Amino acid sequence: MRAKASDMHSKDCVKVAVRVRPFNKRERDAGSRCIISLVSTSISIQDPRDCHNRRSFCFDYAYWSHSGFTRDQTGLFVPEEPGGRYADQHSVFQDLGVGILENALQGYNATLLAYGQTGSGKSYSMVGYGPNKGLVPKLCDRLFEAIRENQENRQCQVFFSMLEIYNEQVVDLLSRGSRTAGGLRVREELQRGFYVEGLRKIPCENALQVEQLMEQGTRTRTTAATQMNANSSRSHMLIILQLKQIFSKESITKQSNINLVDLAGSERQRSSGSEADRLKEGTAINLSLTTLGNVISALADVAVGKKVVHIPYRDSVLTKLLQSALGGNSRTVMIATLSPADICYEESLSTLRYAERAKRIQNRAVVNESPTERLVKELKAENARLLQKLSRMDQEGRRATDESKELRQLLTQNELQIRAIQTLWEQHLQEALKDWEQQYANITQERRMMQMYPYILNINEDAQLSGVVKLFIQEGEWGIGLCDSAPRSISIKGLGIQEHHAVFRNEQRRVTLTPLTGSKVIVNGNAVYETAELQHLDRLILGSNCTYLFVGYPSERGGEDWSRYDYDYFQSELAAAEGIHLSESNTGCSQTDPSLLAVFYDYIQLMPMVAEANQISQELSKGVEFKLEIKNLALSDSRGHDLQKDIVVRVTAAGSKQVWMWSKAKFVNRKFLMEEVYQQFKAAQHEDNRVEGLLAVVLPRDKDPFWDPVEPLLLGTTHLWLQSLAFRIPLEEQLEVLGSEGTEEAILQAQLVPCTSTGLPLGEDDILIDPSEVLGRRLDFQLVLDQCCGVRWIREARNRGIQIGFRVFDCSEPLYTPAVWHNINPLLDHRVQFTSLQTSQRLLDYLQSSAVVLELWGLQEGCSVLSSSLGAVRMTAEGAFIIDLLHPSQAALSDSAELSCSVRALQQDVEELKSLNESLRKENHSLREQLNAVKNGGDGARGRSLRPSCDAEFARALKVFYHSMTSVRGQLQRLRRHRPSEESDLLGLRLFVDEQSRLLRDFSEQLEDGVSTLKQDVAAIVRRKRERSGIWS
Ligand SMILES: Nc1ncnc2c1ncn2[C@@H]1O[C@H](COP(=O)(O)OP(=O)(O)OP(=O)(O)O)[C@@H](O)[C@H]1O
Ligand SMILES: [Mg+2]
Repeated sequence: MRAKASDMHSKDCVKVAVRVRPFNKRERDAGSRCIISLVSTSISIQDPRDCHNRRSFCFDYAYWSHSGFTRDQTGLFVPEEPGGRYADQHSVFQDLGVGILENALQGYNATLLAYGQTGSGKSYSMVGYGPNKGLVPKLCDRLFEAIRENQENRQCQVFFSMLEIYNEQVVDLLSRGSRTAGGLRVREELQRGFYVEGLRKIPCENALQVEQLMEQGTRTRTTAATQMNANSSRSHMLIILQLKQIFSKESITKQSNINLVDLAGSERQRSSGSEADRLKEGTAINLSLTTLGNVISALADVAVGKKVVHIPYRDSVLTKLLQSALGGNSRTVMIATLSPADICYEESLSTLRYAERAKRIQNRAVVNESPTERLVKELKAENARLLQKLSRMDQEGRRATDESKELRQLLTQNELQIRAIQTLWEQHLQEALKDWEQQYANITQERRMMQMYPYILNINEDAQLSGVVKLFIQEGEWGIGLCDSAPRSISIKGLGIQEHHAVFRNEQRRVTLTPLTGSKVIVNGNAVYETAELQHLDRLILGSNCTYLFVGYPSERGGEDWSRYDYDYFQSELAAAEGIHLSESNTGCSQTDPSLLAVFYDYIQLMPMVAEANQISQELSKGVEFKLEIKNLALSDSRGHDLQKDIVVRVTAAGSKQVWMWSKAKFVNRKFLMEEVYQQFKAAQHEDNRVEGLLAVVLPRDKDPFWDPVEPLLLGTTHLWLQSLAFRIPLEEQLEVLGSEGTEEAILQAQLVPCTSTGLPLGEDDILIDPSEVLGRRLDFQLVLDQCCGVRWIREARNRGIQIGFRVFDCSEPLYTPAVWHNINPLLDHRVQFTSLQTSQRLLDYLQSSAVVLELWGLQEGCSVLSSSLGAVRMTAEGAFIIDLLHPSQAALSDSAELSCSVRALQQDVEELKSLNESLRKENHSLREQLNAVKNGGDGARGRSLRPSCDAEFARALKVFYHSMTSVRGQLQRLRRHRPSEESDLLGLRLFVDEQSRLLRDFSEQLEDGVSTLKQDVAAIVRRKRERSGIWS
């Protein structure tokens, strides 16, 4: 290509537009708030957690497509009132599309990129849905209109290509042959730059043809997505329109490439590397998007005058193909699409920042002149010269000389060449015409069938790919499965689809579906194993995740809106069947706990991925199983307050019974890697022509996404409440250790023992009535972990072990019991002493309101044992862990606060003591009088005045009661522990029941005894008090 000299120095900044879409169903259900506002071309976003944190950005265009619209009879979204602020597809096209088209007609390359998180409206803006046509089809309409209008002065040729970049592989979406393994090659030529070798370029004459090609491309994309289990939101789609304009009068040709790019969801780029994983996100899934980000950053730096050594175009396929669009020879527009919802704040902010950087990029667009046309021009010029020479020769009377023969030969050759260049287009067009006719016939046939038969319609996670495939169920019996050559069969591909998967029967206008042995079929969320009759709009899931909507006979179809049966609907229904659902009162209610909703949507997002991962594991004979679990974070909160829940994936190796717990991010990362391995395996299988009976796919461990080194696993937790320590009362507990899903993992016997500094247990007399008495004094206590009973983890596999981990107050390190192995009821016998040298209010508050969270850790063969690093932990000479150690500055601060507090308390004490003194003096006086009276009046009232005070009697009675209760509690724990042995026969059970009844009897007797003693004691005290008050009154 050659640039026009006059254009050489013109710089164009990338134009950036932002667009805000309406709330989607999820966001409406969650009662989301709109955090984005627009004024003219500036946009601001507010942090939902901090109303003072508002960021504003200014772009070339900003579109409000969030509210103020209605749907007209044709289904078109239009502003509610004329001139309203809602930006519809038409106005977006007027701003962005028209400009791009004009650029292209002038001979500039032009590029339009859509960037934004998944579901933010990239495809809606680029391609559109139904009557709401997006930029690409509108642009094509206008392009052909312009071509027709300018027919007089130029001849135009339009070539259409459509490709997808997935995992750094280029797939031609218009190719009808089988996919090339590894995708098409991207090559570089000095003049052309990067291009895709062998990409089909189809000539088009009108917009309808382009639409058909796009439909064809989307269909290929859909089948590729299901077959290869590739998620479309992770792929980039590129449409290349090549426009060639031949101005015969001026003898110039202008050629321009229009690149229309629907990028993968931007969150893929951000999520990568967000969490440490042994296998880093080395996959190429995000490479293109990450590199695009890097290229944009580098170019933005160049634009502000920073020195940039290298722009990494060559690092990914996408950036190679977009090289001219970014910092090169193209006029480029980026549309950044945003969700308005508060829950998408992070993503939206990141999109805006990205767009801001893109806006700084400067391109140098030039008008392109085609080399082929130059050749024609040159050939024509040469012919003109030759003709001149010949005529001169004629005039000079020289005939049929060798020279003139040669000249004539050259002339014909040139003519032929010119004709060849010019007829190429016609030929292409003729060939394409045959294709279109075939395509058109197929479409007409499909429309006819839709009006005659029931069918199943594909539903995809990407709304753009939903409803693309229609599989008709004509009368009679039809097998469905991988079998593509069997007669009367419907062929589908996908994970977990069997050769013969199920059978449809269409008899007397009723359709049934029968799963075949071993195949997975789910109807409306429930697995079916026998023949089921299908109703119009039933939801089918075949295999691990091939989702279809059943559409009945035309007579059954009402005017209902099918769009509600989207991918989310299918997954929510499946989750509901598993017992995971948002209750009716939750949906649509603005008070729904957003964190709960987030967990719910995470769950339904991960569910199909888990099903797919299981299928891949099965097909690759990896023997690994995945299961979703909801982790209740309250279990590890020391106050038991945290209501948050989180999703984890439990991974189990069937053979070794090893277990791992993966976070959501880690699982998603691993799933990408699994897909990659699976695709390589499929490709190899295809090449080898092997079908069945493959051995397990063996991968080196540093590449195996199914493998991880084994680690100790947190099985469950329990809370040991500390309140009794504040009263210096010992506590013995049988604690139920609960797993994250509420299952009983074990019973743990634990004690809290208030003790002396040397570890001797304190006696009853040390019990405090008022806990504040410990303030400022030394406090020692022991945490004793006696035994674990009925450990499920070890019951499941005997080669396992456990440890208990815990952290007390401000002790900087978690502590662990030594590991115990192979025993379902392992003895722990672990005793740890904690000491506070000077008990603070903070510790007292902690004791009164908190619990030690005791964590049950599962050990498995080959994993290292948990140990505490005691480097930073302070200990007493006796080996007790010192807690309640304030930081010096904190201590000073709290010291002064505590001091002023205690001064105030002391003053109060002095006042109280004064009044006590006064009353004691009075009492003393009256006692002396009584004594005198006794002395004078004989022995009648002796002894009465020597009784201890009522309070002391009461405290003693309480202590007695407390003791009997401790022993009752022991009895209760014995009862709880008492279970029949697993091998008991009927006789054994009878004996067990007898023993149990005896224990219960004992228990109730002890309880009765304790309570009645307390009653008697209290009654006696009250009586005595009355008597005494009778004497003293
Ligand atoms: N401006 C809009 N007006 C109305 N509906 C919209 C708008 N933008 C998006 N939507 C709707 O939101 C949904 C998701 O949009 P779309 O398919 O365009 O997302 P996307 O960004 O392409 O996502 P992905 O990365 O998964 O391909 C669609 O159902 C679409 O109809
Ligand atoms: Mg899309």
